[in-house]
Formats: sequence, C-alpha cells, structure tokens
Amino acid sequence: MLIKQQIKSAQQDVEATLNQYFSQPLDTEDSIKEATHYGILNGGKRIRPFLVYATGQMLGADKQDLDVLAAAIECIHSYSLVHDDLPAMDDDELRRGRPTCHIVYGEAHAILAGDALQTLAFDLIANHDFKIPANQQVKMIAALSKASGIEGMVGGQALDIAATDQVINLAALERIHKLKTGALLNCAITLGALSAPSVNEQTQKQLTIFGNAIGLAFQVQDDILDVEGDTITLGKPQGSDIAANKATYPALLGLDGAKQKAQQLLNQALEALAKIDADTEQLENLAKYIVERNY
Ligand code: IPE
Ligand code: IPE
Ligand code: MG
Ligand code: MG
Ligand code: MG
Repeated sequence: MLIKQQIKSAQQDVEATLNQYFSQPLDTEDSIKEATHYGILNGGKRIRPFLVYATGQMLGADKQDLDVLAAAIECIHSYSLVHDDLPAMDDDELRRGRPTCHIVYGEAHAILAGDALQTLAFDLIANHDFKIPANQQVKMIAALSKASGIEGMVGGQALDIAATDQVINLAALERIHKLKTGALLNCAITLGALSAPSVNEQTQKQLTIFGNAIGLAFQVQDDILDVEGDTITLGKPQGSDIAANKATYPALLGLDGAKQKAQQLLNQALEALAKIDADTEQLENLAKYIVERNY
C-alpha cells in the first residue's frame, strides 16, 4: 500500500531529526535525558509529521524547514501521550508496544519528560534558521502553542477527564475530540502551510475544513479501535476506554454509528481536497488510511 511507504518515509525523516538532537552532548542528567528520549523515540506512527511533510511538500516548502516542524509537533504529541498514560489520567501501562514512560522511569520522570518534550518543540522552532520570513516563524510558534494549550489539546484532555463517568451529548463529545486530538492534527497541516512561500485563500480555507474533518475522524477511529482492535496490534491496551468508562463515539452512537460518522468525515475531507488546486494525493491517501487503519 502506497500510503504505508509514504508514512514510513515521514517516520524515517522525523526520527533522523530527533535522533540528531538526542545524540548531541546535552548538559543534563542522564536519567531525564533517557526518559525524554524514551517518551518520543519509541515507535509512534508519526501521523502528525506526515501531515507536516505532505502539506508542505504539496505547497513547495523547504525540506529542512519541514523536518524541524515535523519534529516539533511530534514532541508535543508524544508529551501528550506520556502524560495521558499517567496514573492520574488514563493509567495505562502499555504504549507503542512498550511499557509506558512512568512504568519504566517512575511518575516524576514521566511528568518531567513530558515537560521537556513540550519545551523542546518550541526550542526547535525558535532556534531554526527558516527559509521563510521571521514573522511566519512567529506564526508557527503561535499556532503550535494555541493548538497545544487550554484552547487546544490540554483543554480537550481536561474536558475528557470531566466527562468520564458522565452522560454527555454528541455536541459535547465532538468538542472534546476536536480539542484533544483534532487541534494538533489540524496544526500539523497549518505548520506545513506556514512553511510554504505562499498559500492562496481558497487552499487555506479548504485545508482547514480538511484538517477539522480528519482530526475528528482520527479520534473516532481511535475510539473504535479501543473496542475492536487487539492489544498487540494497537501497541496499547484494548478496552482501556470501556474499563475507565470514558465518553467515546461507540459508547454514544454504538459501533456502527461511530463507523458511519468516520465515513461521513472522510467524505467531507475528500470533498475539501477536491477543491484545492494542487497535488493532494498524499493527503487523500492519509485521510483514507485514518479511517481504515487497525492501529
Ligand atoms: C494516539 O495517537 C492518541 C490520540 C490522539 C488518538 P496516535 O494513534 O497518533 O499514536 P502514535 O503516535 O502512533 O503512538
Ligand atoms: C488521547 O486520547 C488524546 C491525547 C493524548 C491528547 P486517548 O486517551 O483516547 O488516547 P490513547 O487511546 O490513550 O492513545
Ligand atoms: Mg486519554
Ligand atoms: Mg489514553
Ligand atoms: Mg483512545
């Protein structure tokens, strides 16, 4: 399948950039360096980096600029997973097929590793010499901080916790999913677009519609896989949402309802791409992959 090769290439590129960072001499404690390294270089799918590369390449961005942005967004995402797995949050012991960061390094180091990954994201962007003007670089930092913070991923995680053991309606669930997962996926697309020399208004508008649709679809599929995936393939514990009585799409709409929702979102995403005057093939493939994936 072509998309798997395309994702693999994004994985290799982003991991090369991250490995380069961790292989330099860093003036720090070995144990926190190891926990931080473990929190990110542990086999994720690297879908957000893929989105940075696919969007940026489609719009003529510089490859080295994209490497930095792909690494930065993966730092934020990986930090969110390290914290999401903590006992105070989802309390999970398996991630990306390995023991979670707090199981290996203890809770204090997992909290600190998450913090370190978060600041590393902004360190990478702020210290890179981009080909585009500096005001675009500031916009990148602004977009990533907004998508990560209380009006983005963190806000969504807080709502997710508040909704645990509660009955909520579909609109409330959609809001949680859009924030906790959609915001960062959408931001990956925004970062790719911001690194391009120029993007017309129509493309920008349709990329936002596309990003919203696949961002939500990604979490709907994640919820579906929690029900019908298997732990080995997922690399994280199947049934974790059910055990914790989480608000999810299958819980609210049933498995078939959740699958229909994912298909509707895929159609919306593909309609948006059809209105973009550029080679959207990689983004199309990714949208389909998001709702077809089994991990
Ligand atoms: C899992 O994200 C958490 C969600 C936001 C749904 P991914 O499925 O992208 O996890 P990795 O990075 O591949 O491990
Ligand atoms: C995670 O949602 C969202 C973030 C980490 C921001 P989940 O709690 O559903 O993710 P998994 O299933 O543990 O990967
Ligand atoms: Mg969670
Ligand atoms: Mg979780
Ligand atoms: Mg999940």
